[in-house]
Amino acid sequence: MFKSFDPKELATNVLHDYLLSTIAPRPIAWASTVDNNGKVNLAPFSFFNVFGSNPPTLVFSPSNRVRDNTQKHTLLNAQQTGECVINIANYELAGQMSLTSGEFPDGVNEFKMANLEMTPSVKVKPPRVNAGPAQFECIVKQIIPTGTNAGAGNLIICEVVYVHLNENIFNEEDKIDPHLVDNIARMGKIWYTRAKEGLFQMPNPKGTKIIGFSRLPDHIRHSKYLTGSDLGRLAGVDYIPSPEELKAEEARLEMQLIFKQFGNDPRELEKQLHKLAKSLIEENKLEEAWRILLSFR
Ligand SMILES: Cc1cc2nc3c(=O)[nH]c(=O)nc-3n(C[C@H](O)[C@H](O)[C@H](O)COP(=O)(O)O)c2cc1C
Repeated sequence: MFKSFDPKELATNVLHDYLLSTIAPRPIAWASTVDNNGKVNLAPFSFFNVFGSNPPTLVFSPSNRVRDNTQKHTLLNAQQTGECVINIANYELAGQMSLTSGEFPDGVNEFKMANLEMTPSVKVKPPRVNAGPAQFECIVKQIIPTGTNAGAGNLIICEVVYVHLNENIFNEEDKIDPHLVDNIARMGKIWYTRAKEGLFQMPNPKGTKIIGFSRLPDHIRHSKYLTGSDLGRLAGVDYIPSPEELKAEEARLEMQLIFKQFGNDPRELEKQLHKLAKSLIEENKLEEAWRILLSFR
């Protein structure tokens, strides 16, 4: 038995979820663009693939928001300047990639929000992400809107004019090894897949005033135990817990045990708390992770 229907019978948001959950996994174009004034933008798009190699052609689609039919900065910038860089994110960059999908106001540079180094491109104005397995400098050949409704796509057809491949993805025979690339791809809802391991979940950054890397307290930002991706996930919240909430967390049994055992050894205490927070970040329990990290001052 199938659930069978005419797509016009469904609300767009429901259809959207059905499509994204079944047409998966999708690779992710992490697109950097600039506007006419040179302001930099970076955002991920999983409506993306390669469609030819001569000329090398990539297509991705920033769609009109299902919520209110507004258009995304990436589309507007690609229309204005006709250029972009498609960066490829791998597992190591997952948290930072996700952070750049936050709805930041016009003019916010998501490279800075996610603490990513901008490297000048060779042939186009948008900078590239100086990390990850590959970056493709592109000129926009054509933009095709698939409609004007909320949820309509805008196919940005790109020709690759310059390629950067990280040497660390090549094996001893000088071939690209998928284990070394460590690709990730998007599924439906908050699901992703890490090609070499399988499914994992990562919620989208939340709220309208996402704090970003710059507002992470120093002792968290410079943690020896949290990766850039962990920090990217932590930085995707729009509020930091209050002292009252921290008190409530201190009642937590695991925390009490850690404080009891390592209370006299600040280094070990920090290590244990950061490790506990890391495991909570991996389980997407971000608020708890925040409270634990802030309990160490
Ligand atoms: C992994 C991932 C994939 C995404 N794929 C798309 C996509 O294909 N099309 C789209 O319109 N939005 C997609 N989004 C949402 C955009 O990244 C988000 O709307 C972002 O704020 C757009 O930024 P901009 O306005 O700076 O272009 C995706 C988000 C994530 C986390």
